[in-house]
Amino acid sequence: MILIVGGAGYIGSHTCVQLLNAGHEIVVVDSLSNSKYESIKRIKEITGKEFKFYQIDLLNKNELELVFKENKFDAVVHFAGYKAVGESVEKPLKYYQNNITGTIHLCELMSEYNVKKMVFSSSATVYGIPKQVPIVETAPLQATNPYGRTKLMIEEILQDLYVSDSDWSIAILRYFNPIGAHISGKIGEDPNGIPNNLMPFITQVGVGKLEKLKVFGNDYPTVDGTGVRDYIHVEDLANGHLKALEKILASTGLDAYNLGTGSGYSVLELVNAFEKVTGIKIPYEVVDRRPGDVAVCYADPTKAEKELGWKAELGIERMCEDSWRWQSLNPNGYEVNELVTNTKTKQ
Ligand code: NAD
Ligand code: WQD
Repeated sequence: MILIVGGAGYIGSHTCVQLLNAGHEIVVVDSLSNSKYESIKRIKEITGKEFKFYQIDLLNKNELELVFKENKFDAVVHFAGYKAVGESVEKPLKYYQNNITGTIHLCELMSEYNVKKMVFSSSATVYGIPKQVPIVETAPLQATNPYGRTKLMIEEILQDLYVSDSDWSIAILRYFNPIGAHISGKIGEDPNGIPNNLMPFITQVGVGKLEKLKVFGNDYPTVDGTGVRDYIHVEDLANGHLKALEKILASTGLDAYNLGTGSGYSVLELVNAFEKVTGIKIPYEVVDRRPGDVAVCYADPTKAEKELGWKAELGIERMCEDSWRWQSLNPNGYEVNELVTNTKTKQ
């Protein structure tokens, strides 16, 4: 039995589907602070499988303990955390409290109930401003904002935990830029308000919710002056969790892995790929650079291939096609269904 914390969110929901399809039994805990219950319903719809869902905040350790009392877990996949870089600069304590205290509560209970196996969602943000690309796991780590610092601190906490007790088995997964959605178009990324990230911004321009894309700078030292990133299909990412889980279930130790494709695309290359695949024009204007952005960031994913037997398979066209299917079938994300429920409650 695998506990998936933050399993109602974007990457968590896709991972739940893959774990269920691979025959794992799961229990999901999520506060729904950045997701909707509808995603849980859709995971069940896609897989035809049942599982327990608890709406619990990691900050509420007493409630979380009930989940450990009621179930016997073999491992935990930990996605739960806030992730908006800009908001973390404005509200650092909210980020430290949620991401770090939440993780400590979870680790304390895991230790107490002897569930010492964890896959943790880290981020390429822990490399800060990379000195060299492609980025290898041994590159210097550095955070450039409070969100990134929470990821870095949690990595260090997990490292200390392993040093203190070698029964632990921990896989730290450093994601590059996840985009795309499940091929059914039933689950996908559903950001609150105006998206911070590039792909949801593009798809919302595509459905007409936003007028045009703002390209943050075209004077970087890149192929066309716009920022280059390692976009990775969320289905490949979810599969990386399955592979990491298999490894930690079979061994002890602590390792960090880059999950990226190893290829970089510029903002305009992504826009062009999207237009080509969908036939939809994305109007854009170039504006100033976004503070804190790096010019180029892409992974060396060799370690994950060697040690986890994992490799990204899906290319940029599939990423665009699947992101678009999700957005066009669900122009308001999961919201429509939530509104229907609210109206019913009011009647
Ligand atoms: P998401 O916001 O869609 O999912 C996170 C889930 O955790 C949400 O469902 C949210 O409700 C839940 N959650 C947050 N705080 C919680 C708490 N205290 N208790 C219980 N549940 C809580 O985000 P995502 O894109 O799926 O990201 C998952 C993880 O991967 C996060 O830790 C994020 O920092 C990390 N990550 C994301 C990206 C990205 O670009 N999406 C990149 C690198 C790393
Ligand atoms: C990609 C490129 C922008 C929006 C962020 C976090 C990182 C990780 C992933 C969690 C950049 C450009 C973007 C727009 C644009 N998250 N852009 N117009 O910044 O690489 O990474 O998400 O861990 O920590 O920092 O991703 O999608 O925001 O930007 O021109 O409206 O698109 O400048 O070059 P980023 P992104």
